[in-house]
Amino acid sequence: MELPIVMSHKARITAKPTAPVNASSRNLLDHLESAVLWVSPTLELLYVNPAAEMLLERSLNRLKGESLKSICPGNSELVQMLEKASDTELSVTRRNYRLKINSNQAIKVNLTVNSISQVGIVVEMQRIDRARDIDNEFKLQKEQEAIRGLIRGLAHEIKNPLGGIRGAAQLLQSELADQPELLEYTDVLIKETDRLKSLIDQMSGPRRQPQKQRVNIHEISERVRKLLAAEAPDSIRIRFVYDPSAPEVVADKDQLIQATLNLARNALESLEETGGDLVISTSVVRKFTIGNTLHPLAVSLKIEDNGPGIPESLQPQIFFPMVTGKATGTGLGLPTSRSLVDAQGGIIQFKSRPGHTEFEILLPAAPQDHE
Ligand SMILES: Nc1ncnc2c1ncn2[C@@H]1O[C@H](COP(=O)(O)OP(=O)(O)OP(=O)(O)O)[C@@H](O)[C@H]1O
Ligand SMILES: [Mg+2]
Repeated sequence: MELPIVMSHKARITAKPTAPVNASSRNLLDHLESAVLWVSPTLELLYVNPAAEMLLERSLNRLKGESLKSICPGNSELVQMLEKASDTELSVTRRNYRLKINSNQAIKVNLTVNSISQVGIVVEMQRIDRARDIDNEFKLQKEQEAIRGLIRGLAHEIKNPLGGIRGAAQLLQSELADQPELLEYTDVLIKETDRLKSLIDQMSGPRRQPQKQRVNIHEISERVRKLLAAEAPDSIRIRFVYDPSAPEVVADKDQLIQATLNLARNALESLEETGGDLVISTSVVRKFTIGNTLHPLAVSLKIEDNGPGIPESLQPQIFFPMVTGKATGTGLGLPTSRSLVDAQGGIIQFKSRPGHTEFEILLPAAPQDHE
């Protein structure tokens, strides 16, 4: 396709670059974590890469040809930056820019606008909150690994004497056959040592190595659906919203079911008193960083409820063992889910405010067959 000749300032403003993004540059842009928007001097979108599709929550097909002003209304400063860049052919950078992506949502980005002669305007954006989340996830993961190590060490030390206590209680039990009134004491000893052992086992996290295989995320959600159906009272409505295009993931089915079930049970429990809605949904996420790796495709499994939310004071510690807001809770559901999802190479993130809590499991998509 012919390149526009954009020479004079006036021409620059009115000419519409028509050069397509060719296959190799598109391939390059598709792999970037930064959102890239290619805009004509009249501010029509010519191309957006997948990271920008995610950021703007719309597909290239829907965005192409649209005016940036109509896609991102309320971003007059961005429009001014584009006009300035187009006029001066200098690049303009803004840090901590609050980009409105729709009438009720804004995200913070660092952005650079470049006007490139005969090409048009290229806007590059990086989400700041996501970068901060990745940092926090990293920190949390390190802390949790340290805690798990400590618990495993302690567990070993505690389980040996516990075994001894249990054995001695059993011996005593056999000696007390003719004094049944004393047997209730040995029963207590045995039951309580068993309870302690199972608590320590749960706190130590999964002992078995994950047996990973390619699995459709809907196989997991369907199993969870069946289990929940038996547990949920009528006052709780459970809905499932599936994205059939979700690619397979590589995971241990049972561990993933357990991780999801713990999250769903928390949602059920939060709705126990008032009733309400629980929604389990799946979707595809492009360009998602987990740990140090940027995955081109990830699968999201979200569990949402409209219960009271997690108390703010509890939120920073929510994934630590024995943190609970319930009178009878053990505070092991979330740390277990987290270590199980970690073992599959995924992450769990959450958001919570009164009336809306969502936990999201994100897992890298399985490699495509031809890879
Ligand atoms: N969907 C939710 N809505 C409100 N609070 C939640 C939700 N999910 C978790 N929480 C809060 O997080 C705490 C920790 O959850 P976690 O699953 O780790 O432990 P638990 O549910 O208290 O006990 P356990 O799961 O071991 O029986 C809960 O006690 C609750 O206060
Ligand atoms: Mg729980």
